[in-house]
Amino acid sequence: MKFGFFDDANKEYVITTPKTPLPWINYLGTNDFFSLISNTMGGYSFYKDAKLLRLTRYRYNGVPADVNGKYFYIKDGDTVWNPGWQPTKTALDSYECRHGIGYSKWNSSKNDVAASVLAFVPTDDTCEINQIKLTNNSSSTKNLKLFSYVEWCLWNADDDMKNFQRNFSTGEVEVIDSTIYHKTEYRERRNHYAVYSVNSKIDGFDTSRDAFLGAYHDNHDPEVVFEKGECTGSIAHGWSPVAVHQINITLAPGESKSFVFVLGYCENPEDQKWESKGVVNKAPAKAMLAKYQTDADVDKAFAKLKEYWDNLLSIYTVKSANDKVNRMVNIWNQYQCMVTFNMSRSASYYESGIGRGMGFRDSNQDLLGFVHLIPERARERIIDIASTQFQNGSAYHQYQPLTKRGNSDIGSGFNDDPLWLIAGTSAYVRETGDTSILKEMVPYDNDMSVATTLMEHLKRSFDFTVNNKGPHGLPLIGRADWNDCLNLNCFSEHPGESFQCFGPSEGPVAESVFIAGMFVKYGEEYAQLAELLGDTAEAERARKEVQIMYDTVLKDGWDGDWFVRAYDAYSHKIGSKECEEGKIFIESNGFCSLAGIGVKEGLAKKALDSVKEHLDCEYGVMILQPAYTVYHLELGEITSYPPGYKENAGIFCHNNPWVSIAETVIGRGDRAFEIYKKTCPAYTEEISEIHKTEPYVYCQMVAGNDAYIPGEGKNSWLTGTAAWTFCNISQYILGVYPTHKGLQVDPCTPHGFGDFTITRKFRGATYNIEVKNPNDVEKGVKSMTVNGQNVDGCIIPYVEGQKEYNVVVTMG
Ligand code: BGC
Ligand code: NOJ
Repeated sequence: MKFGFFDDANKEYVITTPKTPLPWINYLGTNDFFSLISNTMGGYSFYKDAKLLRLTRYRYNGVPADVNGKYFYIKDGDTVWNPGWQPTKTALDSYECRHGIGYSKWNSSKNDVAASVLAFVPTDDTCEINQIKLTNNSSSTKNLKLFSYVEWCLWNADDDMKNFQRNFSTGEVEVIDSTIYHKTEYRERRNHYAVYSVNSKIDGFDTSRDAFLGAYHDNHDPEVVFEKGECTGSIAHGWSPVAVHQINITLAPGESKSFVFVLGYCENPEDQKWESKGVVNKAPAKAMLAKYQTDADVDKAFAKLKEYWDNLLSIYTVKSANDKVNRMVNIWNQYQCMVTFNMSRSASYYESGIGRGMGFRDSNQDLLGFVHLIPERARERIIDIASTQFQNGSAYHQYQPLTKRGNSDIGSGFNDDPLWLIAGTSAYVRETGDTSILKEMVPYDNDMSVATTLMEHLKRSFDFTVNNKGPHGLPLIGRADWNDCLNLNCFSEHPGESFQCFGPSEGPVAESVFIAGMFVKYGEEYAQLAELLGDTAEAERARKEVQIMYDTVLKDGWDGDWFVRAYDAYSHKIGSKECEEGKIFIESNGFCSLAGIGVKEGLAKKALDSVKEHLDCEYGVMILQPAYTVYHLELGEITSYPPGYKENAGIFCHNNPWVSIAETVIGRGDRAFEIYKKTCPAYTEEISEIHKTEPYVYCQMVAGNDAYIPGEGKNSWLTGTAAWTFCNISQYILGVYPTHKGLQVDPCTPHGFGDFTITRKFRGATYNIEVKNPNDVEKGVKSMTVNGQNVDGCIIPYVEGQKEYNVVVTMG
């Protein structure tokens, strides 16, 4: 069952009912100012950091779901309604929400009044624009009242939810004409404030939540709107400041009026904070608001946003006979890659914005799907991440986006982390050819006095694995590896102890076969970077270490039919037929195989066959089987989840593409695509009532076979799945992979997929690639021509200065 449809021409998903199974959200903002916005206009805004600089308040896990947002109340006689349906939930005569790329739109109507709302964040300002247009479609004059409503967050969203004894006394605002200034804590150590303004005269305002809502009301029935009908002009002193504008509107039959609301973030230099004693310097706000005074201003800013995205989305486009693939590749998957790049795992409807910041491993993986879009931002991100690394190569698990400083709030000592820095950097250099990044001086733990080149950081990443091996010569796992819940050294016995932080994060015995797979893959990529810098001795050393690891995996990481997952602190196998539960895991099988381990020995194929036999289900490939049914002290959080959920036998969408990529490595296009389809939003849209999360983006986890409702998705938007599925479909299935020497075209498609074309912008040139598959093979390039010339192999030689490459690849 569907709750809307894709409008590919407009790059929109059109939601046709407000009653979606879960809030279906969108992200506004490209650089520093962001908003989350749901199909019922719930959500919140922040500047740079969802924890430290939150503009508006959101009620997590509220009932009904998803209340608090940027709302508009329309009062038409005795009827009060919202264009997004919530919070009044007045039945609408028509409703439509269009989530687009960086914007959302609503078209709703009630009693012959139509409301259309456009919400977006302009590309070059720190504000969100809400343009609302009201039209009288009746045959008589309408006297309407429009009320806006936002509730301010007192900046630190974590403290805002907890520290009421202080927070109820700190709130401060100023109101000048149609602009409401939120200046809590500005009097002391902050030099920033927020504004909410409208481009018209107003007929009233409120800034005290209690005055607007009234005691024992909530935002579904504000007393001012429903009972008093007029704002009270309240000035908040403490308690909960809000921003409400009242505009009285008369509309003749057929008449429309539109209003531009701007919610913005402003900063002043420390010495220019005040206009006069206690009065905020409003210059930056005035300058910003002046830019959005008319509908024409809004049109211009919106056109710019569209152009920005059209440009980005023209960098990789495919035309194939499969509409769903085209839709995901050309629009939604790349869009989600941008959002995960911006947010990491910090702010979604499942990540509260106060829990996690920019993950070391997460952000490096996000780069893999983003680097082609805006390489300059990827470059900056790599330096930021590397700047938090420790001198011995290990890493903080995350850093806060505002301060860019690492912290251990969600643990540290995850031994896969360092290797992901090689993955991200290699992707950047392969994309851009920019080796200068490797020579940048980069601090450790933000201490510039011990800075080294980025290449030295990568060396320390590589050597961290070399220097931290266990009894079998496999990498020690530390706190955990990619699977945050495989806590083999933690031994937590008491409720409330964080699996991510409790107990020792290290141990001399527990080993990870998954990290071994990573080492083989990214060790080779490290060697290639060393070669690029002319350091053949280092490349040779690296390759020797990689070979040692390869052999070790085949010796002690192979279980007969598949790869072992890990060894625990007692050196017992995890993910082996010897185990009672958790006999086989996806991660080591997917990653070792995609890294090429056991390919020539025929073992990768065997491992992937085992994955299909034991881990496959209707909705994807499960993370492990059989699910753990009891808590294991020696395994940690993974066994804390009920069977079928999250890391305990859920379908982690993130590592499904690893298996799919591994299938392309051994040339099985049918199976690679079968896996791709199972978690692909354009396909799961059909079962939205089961899947529940947004049908245009991936979610982190889909409940596995052991769950109460298999197929139910959770934790949408912020997941490494976005980057990995984009890599899978664009670089492995469709097969356009950036190498240091140039673009490689080596597709691996399912039978019947047919011919297709790809346009790829790469290092300043445009590549028009036509792939023909006359014999309907799954893999193999029979011939390639570039600008009419035959070329050996499948890498398009990069020619400095050449602007256009017309490439014909014939599979066979
Ligand atoms: C989740 C993991 C996540 C970790 C982050 C755990 O509770 O199950 O998916 O990576 O928290 O700290
Ligand atoms: C989500 C986390 O963000 C990611 O870092 C981790 O790899 C997966 N969960 C698996 O535990």
